Amino acid sequence: MNETIEPPASVKVLLVDDEVNITKSLRRLLGQEDDYEVFIGNSGEEGLELLREESDIGVIISDQRMPQMTGVEFLREARILAPEAIRILLTGYADIEASLAAINQGAVFRYLSKPWQDDELLAALAEAADHFRLISENKRLNALVAKQNAELQDWNTRLKQRVLDQTSQIRAKSDSLAEKNLQLRVSFGETIDALAGLIEMRDPKVPGHSRNTAELVAAMAIAMELPDEEVRSYRSAAMLHDIGKISMSDEVLRKSILRLNEKELIEYQQHVVRGQTAIDPVPELRELGLLIRHHHENYDGSGFPDGLAKQDIPLGARLIAIADCFEHKLHQFAEDVAFEDVLKVMTQDWGIGLDPRLKKFLHQAAEQVFCTLDFSAEMIERMVSPNELVVGMQILQNICSGTGVLLLKRGTVLDEASIDSIQRCFMIDPFKAKITVLIKRK
Ligand SMILES: [Fe+2]
Ligand SMILES: [Fe+2]
Repeated sequence: MNETIEPPASVKVLLVDDEVNITKSLRRLLGQEDDYEVFIGNSGEEGLELLREESDIGVIISDQRMPQMTGVEFLREARILAPEAIRILLTGYADIEASLAAINQGAVFRYLSKPWQDDELLAALAEAADHFRLISENKRLNALVAKQNAELQDWNTRLKQRVLDQTSQIRAKSDSLAEKNLQLRVSFGETIDALAGLIEMRDPKVPGHSRNTAELVAAMAIAMELPDEEVRSYRSAAMLHDIGKISMSDEVLRKSILRLNEKELIEYQQHVVRGQTAIDPVPELRELGLLIRHHHENYDGSGFPDGLAKQDIPLGARLIAIADCFEHKLHQFAEDVAFEDVLKVMTQDWGIGLDPRLKKFLHQAAEQVFCTLDFSAEMIERMVSPNELVVGMQILQNICSGTGVLLLKRGTVLDEASIDSIQRCFMIDPFKAKITVLIKRK
């Protein structure tokens, strides 16, 4: 029987007696009820055979006095074959002692004395049938609970596995996205670098201006403990701050600002708006456009193009203005002049052109960017050709390509990427001079 299916309403009853009259009479009595399906055995052996053939016998009624096998003996065997069947013993007064022993041993649910009262027998049978139904129902419910528990456990296991699989898939996708993101960021940085090189080619009188300004802006932003994303953004904007100069006429580009006439000054001032306009079609660069537009605003409001003052000027633009000013002034001095002199010259600019509250970040940042040469006793100076460059060497002079494009600035410590870049540029746009480097004494 499938334990999870509800048991039938009728109960199978097995009657065992060697006297045919008795079994006939019992069959007749039980036949009046719809609740029972009756089976007859004329001996203990026959009764056992029926139990082997017929499953789910609910009640067994057996006579005690039978040849070969007594009722108690038969019911003991029956208990093994059908442990859930309710057992009733029919017995005469002479057998009461044996019947009581059988009840005490648990082999019999009840005994009825012969001759029986029909009402009494039907009532005992009804009680036995209810008892069997209760046991069957209990068994069915237990089986159902066990089945549902197993299903729940299986479902839980599958769910857990599914969550693990999905987590692993999400992690793989996330790793792949992070990798692509990194590639995009590197590619974005390389594009910005290439554009900075282009800007520097247009204005070779200040080699490395875009990249030096960017390094100084980034160093100040880091000293201010700004978030990495903001540092990257300000650095990129500083790289491109003079991109508008690409469209400037040669006459204006060559002249010092102090010597420009009114018309030329207007053209010069347009480079900030032109710079913003040039990069505006690229959504990823649009945010940088504002910093480019405002890098010539003065702290006191006297700058261009919008005459913004103080905090109205975006922080990134104020930082670019400081680095731009420092870098331009640095070019007015020989390379080995201490940058402290430049800081002294800038004293007049704080509070007028530049934000005085940012002054404290410039000194350390400038030292970091422009004073990185290691002249300790461990280091010696050497002249080497591009194919002799080795990782760890430090460049003592700016390296420019044959046509004057700044490739690497003074103080750079070489890594594999920078050596590869110099060697490739040497093939494309060769430079004659050997490269002066600092190397560690052996
Ligand atoms: Fe500028
Ligand atoms: Fe500039």
